[in-house]
Amino acid sequence: MLYENNNIKIDKIKYNNNKSLLNKVLPKIIDITSRPNTNKNFILGGSCSYFNEDLDQSGKKLFLWKEFRDYIDFIKPHIQNYLNEINKSEDYYYVTGMWANVYPPGTHVAKHKHNYFQESSDLNDILAILLYLRKPNDSGNLIIDIPENNSTVDYKVTMEEGDVVMFQSSLCHQTEINKSCESKFIIGIELVSRFQSDKAQNNNSSIRETLEGL
Ligand SMILES: [Fe+2]
Repeated sequence: MLYENNNIKIDKIKYNNNKSLLNKVLPKIIDITSRPNTNKNFILGGSCSYFNEDLDQSGKKLFLWKEFRDYIDFIKPHIQNYLNEINKSEDYYYVTGMWANVYPPGTHVAKHKHNYFQESSDLNDILAILLYLRKPNDSGNLIIDIPENNSTVDYKVTMEEGDVVMFQSSLCHQTEINKSCESKFIIGIELVSRFQSDKAQNNNSSIRETLEGL
């Protein structure tokens, strides 16, 4: 575990087959992140395929791509370990989606949290698993707000290409500006608790796959 304090846990692991995945999948990732999108302002100048307009919601179903089979097989036991660490069962979670983000030069995502309309009752209700598929030098790291003494402190998670970070995405988080001259690409997976899943459903996040079904 990279960070562990009170109920907050941040895990970082290395996916060793990332280079091969990147070579196979990059043209498709560029395509999926350049389609019409309902939430253009989420990453100013960039895009998150989770919000693609396609009626089949293909932008949040990257787990169906055969190119991701090896990554999913790799990451599933790590997700299960993380859930064990926070004393939760995978039966308690749904996967709302698996998507791609693109951050062209000069872009970043502002501070936000994944909270489906209202404050989460439990820090562990919403989890994010992010693979840094393509991470040019100086393209920016992840900053997570850690509550401390009635305030918060910025915790920087330094990410390299092929790194995967798991954290409670009900915590506020943001990314540093991409100061390189190339685009950064990230693959996200989100888990929500059964408690949160009804709100996720109402939020047009209609995918309700279990972790087992990934
Ligand atoms: Fe996020």
